[in-house]
Amino acid sequence: MKKTVLVSGGAGFIGSHVTVELIQAGYDVVMADNFSNCDRSGYEGVKQITGREDLPLEEVDFCNAAQVHALFAKYPIDAVIHFAAYKAVGESVEKPVMYYKNNLMSFLNVLEAAQEKGGCNVLFSSSATVYGEPDAVPVTEKTPRKPATSPYGNTKQMCEDILRDTVKASGGTVKGILLRYFNPIGAHPSALIGELPRGVPNNLVPYITQTAVGKRPCLNIFGNDYPTPDGTCLRDFIDIVDLAKAHVCAVGRMLEGKMKADCEVFNIGTGRPLSVLELVNAFEKVNGVKLNYKFVPRRAGDVVSIWADPTLANTEMGWKATRSIEETLKSAWEWELHLKNQQQ
Ligand code: WQD
Repeated sequence: MKKTVLVSGGAGFIGSHVTVELIQAGYDVVMADNFSNCDRSGYEGVKQITGREDLPLEEVDFCNAAQVHALFAKYPIDAVIHFAAYKAVGESVEKPVMYYKNNLMSFLNVLEAAQEKGGCNVLFSSSATVYGEPDAVPVTEKTPRKPATSPYGNTKQMCEDILRDTVKASGGTVKGILLRYFNPIGAHPSALIGELPRGVPNNLVPYITQTAVGKRPCLNIFGNDYPTPDGTCLRDFIDIVDLAKAHVCAVGRMLEGKMKADCEVFNIGTGRPLSVLELVNAFEKVNGVKLNYKFVPRRAGDVVSIWADPTLANTEMGWKATRSIEETLKSAWEWELHLKNQQQ
């Protein structure tokens, strides 16, 4: 029988790509979102890519316990992937209460509903931000977490701990996987779904594509005096479709009883460090566009260098990043052009 996966925050950037891959892998998906940080285009795009006109969409506020319980009562949910959270680092520093309330409450409601149903497989969308500024790179899952540098990062650490404790106390009825994403970028090759930042983008790649298309006058590169080969920060940029496929592997691992512990952690990255400047140069080259950029002082709170050792995900989950940075940057640009064409 087909298994059902609930995707909270399913209409967003990562959620929509994950939904596509789950459907294509043969799962029934329930997409749930409150549309606080995205519109319905993600849902429409997923339907168009997969041909699943009947894809269930539930408008749910995950901070509302009654709504979450009703959702779990309505569908035979075998696994839940929890994305529904706020994600802007800077905003979290300005509005910590809003971040703690939203990111913790929504996850607690999911866990409570899962427990009340007698158990569930829970996949939590975590972040490399939990490693802070690591003492050594690349980071493995055994690399110690550092104190979080923002309320956003703290909510990721806290949710990791909450899931671990819940799994431990559940006597095996709740199982958990924490996926720690590095820097997800790019868009679906169909250019029908992608990242839709509201207002001025915080993240590098949307800022690059918006500058290239003329929405922004100039990209500011934060710092060129870091102790790295070209002076700019090093990151592990992971293609969004590769990242989405890691979720299919993780869900399969849970549902097929392949887990080696009741709560597991995997780094989801390429293992390939790339500097901000290298990324900018690659974007210009592969897309044949000239980018207006300038170097400005460092951004507060930025980690100098971080990239993944993805060996565990490669060997244990059978997942590996396969798309080249060129393909990824091409997809990011095609998505931006798709948005431009839509507006004309
Ligand atoms: C990457 C690099 C910037 C914008 C954050 C979160 C993480 C994850 C992804 C949230 C840095 C530089 C950026 C710009 C620049 N979660 N940069 N000019 O900070 O590595 O990770 O986003 O969604 O948890 O911490 O990603 O894309 O913001 O920055 O020079 O306009 O690009 O300084 O070195 P980051 P990023």
